[in-house]
Amino acid sequence: MDKLVVKGGARLNGRVEISGSKNSALPILAATLLTPETCVIRNVPDLSDIRFMIEIMKRLGAKVTFENGTVTTSAETIISEVPYDLVRKMRASICFLGPIIARCGTATFSEPGGCSIGDRPIDLHLKGLAELGAASHSEGGNVYIPKANLVGKEIFLGGKSGSTVLGTDNVMMAATRAKGLTIIESAACEPEVRDLANFLNKMGAKIVGHGTRRIEIEGVDALHGVEHTVIPDRIEAGTFMVSALITQGDVFLAGADASHLVNVIDRMKSCGAQITSDAKGIQVSATRKLSSIDLVTETYPGFPTDMQAQLCALMSVTPGISAITEKIYPNRFMHLAELRRMGARVELEGATAILHGVDHLSGAPVMASDLRASAALVLAGLIARGTTEVNRVYHIDRGYEHIDQKLRGLGAEIERVR
Ligand code: EPU
Repeated sequence: MDKLVVKGGARLNGRVEISGSKNSALPILAATLLTPETCVIRNVPDLSDIRFMIEIMKRLGAKVTFENGTVTTSAETIISEVPYDLVRKMRASICFLGPIIARCGTATFSEPGGCSIGDRPIDLHLKGLAELGAASHSEGGNVYIPKANLVGKEIFLGGKSGSTVLGTDNVMMAATRAKGLTIIESAACEPEVRDLANFLNKMGAKIVGHGTRRIEIEGVDALHGVEHTVIPDRIEAGTFMVSALITQGDVFLAGADASHLVNVIDRMKSCGAQITSDAKGIQVSATRKLSSIDLVTETYPGFPTDMQAQLCALMSVTPGISAITEKIYPNRFMHLAELRRMGARVELEGATAILHGVDHLSGAPVMASDLRASAALVLAGLIARGTTEVNRVYHIDRGYEHIDQKLRGLGAEIERVR
């Protein structure tokens, strides 16, 4: 199993190319199953999650190639069953549900289990689809949708933590083929949902309001093949922003879209970061230690849960006391115990991490528990004295394209050991 070995202390400087968004590419790949025609998707990051998504598409009957960041798909016929051996490896496979129902009128889907960032129910997906006419029942760990007769409806999709990203995607994808008008109230506004809606509209769907809490979808008879370029990955960009700040470096994030990171940029600036942006990307630097922060993760445009672990790493070496509250996944704090092993002073009170900024961290062997937690440990390793070994690095390869090469390009001392 690979590990990343990081020698701390180097200030990061230079330019890094931001890849296409994983969380945009995954549902867009699923959406290509809505048409038998050929789709060409560009700027797709080469990640294990993407390769796995492609493997599932092939198992479902699609022809798929992936070369130099471009995925070409054609799904003349597809089957309607996604078994547990595929679902358990990647929760995002849930976003096949909407396209399969729209295309096949029936679906059998293994229910995803728990995961290291906490409970991740799919009740809102199933509620939204049932209201559209795809009622389901669960048995033996599977969700069965025996017969869907999709008819547009006004659907409230809010849950106890607010909106759902992939739930909104699933209902939106199914509704493109429903009869009449579907209105999703309390829809997710994330840029990735907007990117999917833009893709669906290119395919011939009639969607308005994406990017707001109310999305309207007028069903159409068929969708056709298109070309599309995936938006840049805002979480990868945010992670590299932290790499510049934690090392008091100066980094240009080429291709990053500042309009997707308004909240993150605002919070970082309020701590003393220098950040400017233009159409080409985002420049981030810190000439001195930042100040502490109080923040709460929220749905977009709030502070993203996918940046929480990285902010914990940053605040563990930032003077003062920071309070970081997780509202989306209250148990997403596995990284704290590992940061503590590196010398961080942190307590968990409910779903709030209280971080007392320390003067320095010390390198140690640490264990990655999920994608963003592993990124946080690599970031901590960049500033720690000595050597940090991040084990179980397959987590990071799920969502960061060539992170070790990119960090090395900025001057970090980081090696992948096989
Ligand atoms: N929720 C429900 N019921 C549902 C669905 C969600 O209660 O049926 C709750 C969840 O438990 C959570 C909240 O709603 O408290 C938001 O979950 P959401 O459904 O929005 O998450 P997701 O769509 O499954 C996507 C990203 C995650 C990211 C979340 C939140 C993809 C492939 N995944 O997941 O990304 O954390 O939105 O922004 O887009 C990551 O990239 O590291 C990652 C975990």
